[in-house]
Amino acid sequence: MPIQGLLPTLVCLTIWTLWSLLIPALSHPHHSLCRLTQKIALCSDSEISSVPRDLPDNIEELHLTHNHIQMLQDDSLSRYISLRTLSCAKNRLETVGSKLFHNSPHLESLNLAGNQLHVGYQETSRALLTLSRLKVLDLSENQLTNDIASVLLQNMTSLEHLNLSRNLLLRLDESSFSDLHQLRELDLQRNMLFEIVDAFDHLHKLQRLNLAFNHLACLMDFDMTQLVVLNASHNNIEWFIANQDLQETFQLETLDLTNNNLLFFPFLPIQSRLRNLHLSQNRVSFYEHLADTAGYPNWTNSVQFFNLRDNVTNVTAQLWDESLHGDISSLDLLDLSGNQVGYFPQGFISKMPSLVRLRMQTNCLEVLNLTLEKLPGTLYELDVSNNRLTELHADQGSLNELGKLSYLNLSQNYLQSLPPRLFSSLTSISSVDISFNRIGICPLEEWGGNRDGGNQSDCVVWRNIISLRQLHLSGCNLGRLPSSAFTGTPLTHLELSNNPELNIGPRSIVGLSRTLHHLGLGNTGLRDFDFSPFHHLKSLNISRNSLTQLPASLQRLELRLLDLRDNNLNTVPSDQANTLALKLQTVFLNGNTFNCCQLDWYRTFERAKTVNIIDLSDISCQDLTKNTHKVVFLDPLMCGGSEEESVYWYILLFIVPVLCLVGISVIFLLTFRPRLLPKAIKNKCRRPTSY
Ligand SMILES: *[C@@H]1O[C@H](CO)[C@@H](O)[C@H](O)[C@H]1NC(C)=O
Ligand SMILES: *[C@@H]1O[C@H](CO)[C@@H](O)[C@H](O)[C@H]1NC(C)=O
Ligand SMILES: *[C@@H]1O[C@H](CO)[C@@H](O)[C@H](O)[C@H]1NC(C)=O
Ligand SMILES: *[C@@H]1O[C@H](CO)[C@@H](O)[C@H](O)[C@H]1NC(C)=O
Ligand SMILES: *[C@@H]1O[C@H](CO)[C@@H](O)[C@H](O)[C@H]1NC(C)=O
Ligand SMILES: *[C@@H]1O[C@H](CO)[C@@H](O)[C@H](O)[C@H]1NC(C)=O
Ligand SMILES: *[C@@H]1O[C@H](CO)[C@@H](O)[C@H](O)[C@H]1NC(C)=O
Ligand SMILES: *[C@@H]1O[C@H](CO)[C@@H](O)[C@H](O)[C@H]1NC(C)=O
Ligand SMILES: *[C@@H]1O[C@H](CO)[C@@H](O)[C@H](O)[C@H]1NC(C)=O
Ligand SMILES: *[C@@H]1O[C@H](CO)[C@@H](O)[C@H](O)[C@H]1NC(C)=O
Repeated sequence: MPIQGLLPTLVCLTIWTLWSLLIPALSHPHHSLCRLTQKIALCSDSEISSVPRDLPDNIEELHLTHNHIQMLQDDSLSRYISLRTLSCAKNRLETVGSKLFHNSPHLESLNLAGNQLHVGYQETSRALLTLSRLKVLDLSENQLTNDIASVLLQNMTSLEHLNLSRNLLLRLDESSFSDLHQLRELDLQRNMLFEIVDAFDHLHKLQRLNLAFNHLACLMDFDMTQLVVLNASHNNIEWFIANQDLQETFQLETLDLTNNNLLFFPFLPIQSRLRNLHLSQNRVSFYEHLADTAGYPNWTNSVQFFNLRDNVTNVTAQLWDESLHGDISSLDLLDLSGNQVGYFPQGFISKMPSLVRLRMQTNCLEVLNLTLEKLPGTLYELDVSNNRLTELHADQGSLNELGKLSYLNLSQNYLQSLPPRLFSSLTSISSVDISFNRIGICPLEEWGGNRDGGNQSDCVVWRNIISLRQLHLSGCNLGRLPSSAFTGTPLTHLELSNNPELNIGPRSIVGLSRTLHHLGLGNTGLRDFDFSPFHHLKSLNISRNSLTQLPASLQRLELRLLDLRDNNLNTVPSDQANTLALKLQTVFLNGNTFNCCQLDWYRTFERAKTVNIIDLSDISCQDLTKNTHKVVFLDPLMCGGSEEESVYWYILLFIVPVLCLVGISVIFLLTFRPRLLPKAIKNKCRRPTSY
């Protein structure tokens, strides 16, 4: 064999041998699994089961998250004397050797979350005792019980941030955190806490406390004046009562009691800086009407709380006196959505002179008198949707006050009339939702309210509201839109869906052609509409309209989102499909009666990788026998296939007769010229074969 041919083979072999020798040599030493950036070693997700021993001595951060480490041996950190941060979260860690940190005098942050520390906690606790500088400790998700936790945390006097979330804590008392004098932040969410007795009394620096997702039934005699954020959402809390005798100003800024069982508005501190009060999803109501009547002289004002050790605390809380809600004068946000509020107690809202967001959706409000309530001028967002409002009153003066109101949601109420100049008086209003009320749009000649003397009007004038951008008028029982209904109002978002009798006159919304980005016309009895003037339209909803074909003018738009669900579309003509596929990003098509044999549009959309058919797996079509098929599983040959398949059909049709013909001729030949056969055989056998 020539040497030239052998040479490349040899070179290849050598390279391969070197490679196979080098690869293990490169990957097995520990440090190659770690990335080093400055003094940080990142060894996460490396399937290692011990601490790498060959990292530079001077590393300050070592990240070992998501590995298989079961035990941190005593000497595994001895070389890394400068270590400040160690993360060994999400391993299988059961024990931390008691001498592990003997050479780690600078360690400040230790993350051991997501391990099995409940197994070897005794030895681990001896290790932690040696960390005299530790500030941050994460022990979340370690199946720690009360007793284990208090063993692990003894003498941790320098700790500032502690995470004990997702453990098995049931009860906390004064012994639980007795040494944590420097603690500023404590995360106890997602345990099973049902009782806390004096556990935080000596944590004088604690500022952030998270108790969310536990089983607490009350927070009473609350006296943590230094606390800034308290999150007690998702418990079973029926009572929140701050110590009403303390005259000190509480530092509390955020109180989250979302998703509890509160019946009363919380009894807040007498003086505080509370800015964010989250009370949604409770059962809060006001009871002033009960206090007023003399019918209930025997109703008590005190609440008794018992705890496990049979200690009783009597709290007198002026239960029926709504003048006592504590200090809410700094509130920015009040979220009372999903409660049972039927009215605001007298003077309640005026106690919040700097309120910015008032969220009252899904309550039981029946009347809203803005003149009476005196909403503050700082208000930016007001949501009273999904209540039982039948009346909304406001005089000109109180409307002029609301110069910052930008978002107003009145949807899903029983309103049939509104103050005539409600929206034109709100100089900053930018988003209005009055969907699902019976309120019309005033025609040009009527300036609202003229019909019943100026107080209330059953229609709204939407012209010349220059700040308004988003308008939702879904389900308002709208009929024919007056012409130039929105002149001078630069809407970008107009929702008119669920008005089955809607009749958009040719000139009614044309004034919006230069601003409109979204138009909602779902379930409006739409037949055909010329969308071509709306050059800026990006999103169009024409679902539920019994459309049998797409409006031709759609092709001229630069649509990104198109909702065509629940119409009677048979197909999408290929020229329309082609142009739409170039621009669309999101399309909804379910609920049409597509023809299985005219699905070219579907293939067009499929080919255009940019189009996202949201409900693809639900789209179905009907074949010639009216059977329904899922488009995604459709057999392409069912209708004779598309043009490509039909070529094969023709070939097949051609081949069969040709084969038949050939067969027949062979048989014919053999039958009628029998002498040919032996001759052919003879010819073949006569020839000697050469071996
Ligand atoms: C905790 O600290 C105290 C006082 O410094 C000391 O007496 C005690 O022995 C320490 N506890 C443990 C378990 O080391
Ligand atoms: C505490 O740990 C949990 C789970 O590991 C995490 O979701 C949470 O953000 C942590 N809390 C803080 C305050 O970092
Ligand atoms: C309270 O905690 C829950 C659960 O962690 C979280 O979803 C919520 O955003 C927190 N509340 C505040 C006001 O931060
Ligand atoms: C209030 O208590 C007194 C004495 O216990 C009783 O006689 C009276 O019927 C009670 N009143 C009501 C309205 O329950
Ligand atoms: C609770 O009761 C126990 C004994 O019953 C008593 O020693 C303890 O001082 C009581 N604690 C309070 C806060 O009243
Ligand atoms: C709590 O108040 C009730 C009624 O006012 C009284 O009978 C009870 O003795 C009080 N209990 C304590 C521990 O003060
Ligand atoms: C709304 O409140 C004002 C001020 O208290 C009052 O004068 C007016 O009558 C109220 N309007 C209605 C309809 O109750
Ligand atoms: C108005 O409130 C309703 C019900 O709470 C909600 O579904 C809708 O999205 C809100 N409208 C806007 C514009 O946010
Ligand atoms: C305005 O409303 C009030 C209360 O509904 C009513 O008493 C008054 O007559 C109305 N004014 C006019 C001019 O209709
Ligand atoms: C289109 O309007 C209908 C109401 O007729 C609504 O149910 C649907 O969610 C809207 N589509 C999108 C994408 O928002």
